Amino acid sequence: MQFAAITSADISFFQTTLGNAFVLTDSEALRNYGHDETEDLVYLPEVVLKPANAAEISAIVKHCNDSNIPVTTRGGGTGLSGAALPVHGGVILSMERFNKIVEIDERNLQVTVEPGVITQVLQETVLAKGLYYPPDPSSRGSCFIGGNIAHNSGGPRAVKYGVVKDYVLNLQVVLANGEIIWTGANTLKNSTGYNLTQLMVGSEGTLGIVTQIVLKLIPAPAFNLVMLVPFYSAERACEAVSAVFRAGIVPSAMEFMERDAIDWVLQFRTDIAVTVEPDVKAHLLIEVDGSDMDVLFKDCERITEVMQAFDAGEVLFAESAAEKDVLWKMRRSVAEAVKSNSVYKEEDTVVPRAELAKLLKGVKDIGAAYGFKSVCYGHAGDGNLHINIVKGDLTDDVWKNELPKAIRQLFELTVSLGGTLSGEHGIGWVQKPYMDIAFGETSLSLQKGIKQVFDPKGILNPGKIF
Ligand code: LAC
Ligand code: ZN
Repeated sequence: MQFAAITSADISFFQTTLGNAFVLTDSEALRNYGHDETEDLVYLPEVVLKPANAAEISAIVKHCNDSNIPVTTRGGGTGLSGAALPVHGGVILSMERFNKIVEIDERNLQVTVEPGVITQVLQETVLAKGLYYPPDPSSRGSCFIGGNIAHNSGGPRAVKYGVVKDYVLNLQVVLANGEIIWTGANTLKNSTGYNLTQLMVGSEGTLGIVTQIVLKLIPAPAFNLVMLVPFYSAERACEAVSAVFRAGIVPSAMEFMERDAIDWVLQFRTDIAVTVEPDVKAHLLIEVDGSDMDVLFKDCERITEVMQAFDAGEVLFAESAAEKDVLWKMRRSVAEAVKSNSVYKEEDTVVPRAELAKLLKGVKDIGAAYGFKSVCYGHAGDGNLHINIVKGDLTDDVWKNELPKAIRQLFELTVSLGGTLSGEHGIGWVQKPYMDIAFGETSLSLQKGIKQVFDPKGILNPGKIF
């Protein structure tokens, strides 16, 4: 696809449509919007646009479609797969002014929200009314709900409550030709035609631009308990995970952290203090929640028994809200801590839960063969392992030319275990060379056909996924 460079006539059109203040072309703005949280990658857009409503987006997208200008939609810029990188230049469409919670429908337990609302703001606003929106990526303090929909995000609570797709009921979407549609209905059930709502979820801004969202909410659980369980073998920690579910308990979080993940967080965040014994190799951070404290205490006892069968060390119970907070801060800081330490690549592998130990062992074997260090952590209860491959002392040549071979092996292993490339970060820009491992030609061409129907000229987030 040959895209057109943006001209002064295009800029004038954008200024007339949005007002001059919301059309940015200065080099600082282009730089700020030219990266997300993916590695150290930067691709400069030609212009940054900040629309305020669906009608403005419709006008912009129609213009860009007519003029062959690429449009990359951007949420909070916290993505880890490079989906928000404007790799073909063109327009960055920043959704930051779409920051209104439009309506909380307490009768139906639903919320209508704009995509630029910060996830944590949404969660806290509905919680004040006793309602719960569970999907909570680590970046929830700065990521946008629209970005979460674009990636079908998960986070720690997904193991009990499901991922973003399980909460999205209906979406307002601007299509590539500028038309505005609603994808479904505000109902809990819907067996009416193809499911365009779910097709949009996880499509990374390649099929349309979401401008309003209707989400399902649930009653907030009243209580939770949090425990940190040390293990002297990381593989044993992984093996313990599926045993908890087999024992009849579904924790509200079941997170895995390798030793290095915790050590690096403790170095990076001096405000977090957790004591880790010298021989400990990994931890599981486990939370249970519900409406009856006695049941939760029993669940924790049962979990502790299960853990002992996998040679766990002494369990640390968080005694207070402040202690729980420290443990969660520690867990949520891993990605940032690794990033502060070295350039790294973050893979987001996911396997059936009981295969986690095999995946971890395979990762370490591949690392040994290629000479890279990895720091692994993630949503163990979902079989979702984040593998941070650390550049450290590797030469640029090895990083650029050898590592892709190692990553290919890693994904082949993941798929051979019944898993797939990404559990929650998406494919975006950096994972797309590996899509052939997850899908055969027929599946890929069906997916490309869908893209063709929605965006025949390929202007929406070009270069991503395929
Ligand atoms: C996490 C993000 C990186 O789990 O997905 O911390
Ligand atoms: Zn995660």
